Amino acid sequence: MAYRFTRDDVGYLDGATGRAALAEVGELALTSASLLKDLEQVRRAHGDRAAALVETVRLRRRATAKLADAGEWLFTDDALQQATPSAVARHRAARLAGRAVHDVTCSIGAELTALAPHCPAVLGSDLDDVRLAMAARNLSGHRNVLLAKADALRPCSVDTVVIADPARRADGRRTHDPAELQPPLPDLLDTYRGRDLAVKCAPGLDFDRLEWPGEVEVVSLDGSVREACLWSPGLAESGVTRRATVLSSKAAAWTITDAEPDDIDERAPGRWIVDPDGAVVRAGLVRHYAAKHGLWQLDPRIAYLTGDTVPEGVRGFRVLDRMDFREKPLRAELRRRDCGPLEILTRGVDIDPDALRSRLKPRGSRPHTLVVTRIGRAATVFLCATP
Ligand SMILES: C[S@@+](CC[C@H](N)C(=O)[O-])C[C@H]1O[C@@H](n2cnc3c(N)ncnc32)[C@H](O)[C@@H]1O
Repeated sequence: MAYRFTRDDVGYLDGATGRAALAEVGELALTSASLLKDLEQVRRAHGDRAAALVETVRLRRRATAKLADAGEWLFTDDALQQATPSAVARHRAARLAGRAVHDVTCSIGAELTALAPHCPAVLGSDLDDVRLAMAARNLSGHRNVLLAKADALRPCSVDTVVIADPARRADGRRTHDPAELQPPLPDLLDTYRGRDLAVKCAPGLDFDRLEWPGEVEVVSLDGSVREACLWSPGLAESGVTRRATVLSSKAAAWTITDAEPDDIDERAPGRWIVDPDGAVVRAGLVRHYAAKHGLWQLDPRIAYLTGDTVPEGVRGFRVLDRMDFREKPLRAELRRRDCGPLEILTRGVDIDPDALRSRLKPRGSRPHTLVVTRIGRAATVFLCATP
């Protein structure tokens, strides 16, 4: 069970005594092996503040994977889970540079901190007192940020761009129903109709059903799809209704939109197979991506691409052989090639890669990748070199 912080905890942690205690607790290992002993030590020194101190130090350590410069921040466990990763928040902030922005569900301020260096004025509001108090601490270095308690469904700013990030319900039920979000997405969109608005949503949102009049941008970070952001028409690039943005902590970001060409030839499979980034697939821009990089599709309904070259920085699979998907001849071929560690990728076929791997029993020494997919009606397997 996560610790439930109070306003009083935040006041203590933000004061001189709390800061000194946090520095002290920050020296402890707090691993699962040492936790009981460490907790006992913190209790002896700081009494009933121990739980808030230990939880804060543990959350700060977890936050480093997601948030930049948050080593001195205050969080709740839920707020950290919900916080937008810094790389994604910075990307959104760069699109809003020069505008005054109001984050109407600001929580502990992960978006605000990315907006502050780019925007002349930044407002943050939320209904949760504890999170607002934490945001005040987390944003204390920024003079252009103002915080207030306010309901996102009762607008309290004018002439600002509004950004929102409605939360999943607190009861933990996973639902993609936009009306179940807090605040509910349909109410939020009604409230700010006609305003410049950017709403962060789960990437699983059925945005085709939403008939959004602006741009939907699907963002991935380091290969994992993080969000779909709805940009109102005034903030969208002209002619763009879908965009995929691929962010990486190791390489330059890139983006592709449906305003780019999507004409590709129908051709036999080439020398390579390419599995496009999830953001491209989720945004429905597989053909656009193929056209941009001289690739084509294995099948018009399947997101795998093929070609004779691989776009720079992309993990492609060099095709060694192609067979109809039948397990017995496939197993024999794997044995003949001394196939060992086997990566299995599937699309468009009802196959569990782990179960297939255990049936194929690859005992050889050479790593290979199997791409199992459907071409027309036929299940087909491409035996590839593992990149
Ligand atoms: C997913 S979190 C936002 C996270 C934030 N974007 C970040 O990166 O840290 C959603 C926030 O909306 C707040 N909230 C829910 N309903 C609200 C409402 N009607 N008005 C204002 N805030 C609301 C919750 O308290 C929560 O802090």
